[in-house]
Amino acid sequence: MRKLLVLAILSSIMFVAVFGGIIDEIKSRGYLVVGTEATFPPFEYYNENNEIVGFDIDIARKIAEALGVELKVVDTAFDGLIPSLLTKKLDMVIAGMTITEERAKVVAFSEPYFTAGQVIVVRKGSTPIKDFEGLKGKVVAVQLGTTGDLVVSELKGIKEVRRFEKFTDAFLELKNRRVDAVVLDSAVAKAYVLSNPNLEITSDVLSSEQYGIAVRKEDKDLLEFINKVLADMRKSPYDLLIEKWFAE
Ligand code: ARG
Repeated sequence: MRKLLVLAILSSIMFVAVFGGIIDEIKSRGYLVVGTEATFPPFEYYNENNEIVGFDIDIARKIAEALGVELKVVDTAFDGLIPSLLTKKLDMVIAGMTITEERAKVVAFSEPYFTAGQVIVVRKGSTPIKDFEGLKGKVVAVQLGTTGDLVVSELKGIKEVRRFEKFTDAFLELKNRRVDAVVLDSAVAKAYVLSNPNLEITSDVLSSEQYGIAVRKEDKDLLEFINKVLADMRKSPYDLLIEKWFAE
């Protein structure tokens, strides 16, 4: 009897492993593992109760809810997110991650869910830096592996690029006058400047980027599911009424 039970359990696990998609796996385990890097307000950051909150986390929660499972958020270095996804330590990544050609070679991205671009932040009262040209001869801080890192690394004439794992550290260095500027995404720069009145954004938005949620390429079921949740989230109460009363 017991042998039969063990056999039944083993074969159902194998069935899921061989035939079921990642969604079946997530449902049977009961939680969705989401990777992020939580020094990126208002998308993901630690609140005063030391919980990770933000725009991305709310989206992740909606996805977990729609799957009927708990949400587990893993905070890890930004440049480690895609490797962790590929080695199956995570089910998906939501981290204000820009959809780029390079990244799209190794992971699948959801439909874009936010538009952003790089800006330059300096200390108030120092020379305003208006564009990438203006970074020449300066010490510039970025987050390791971000699109900000990418652009700055390709610029010629920068005195030094300092790459940090956490944006909080990059801004600490800026405040302590050890770097001249931080290059990062517009909405996040605004959030940092708001909580650090001695800093300011002195450039326009210098690039055009779109954020996507990343999953492994083979997890097509999860990708489709995520896109459906995103589409549903965009529906206004009006859209829902139209659907209710006029759908065929
Ligand atoms: N959008 C930029 C990129 O994809 C920065 C993202 C940083 N996100 C974070 N959670 N720290 O490279």
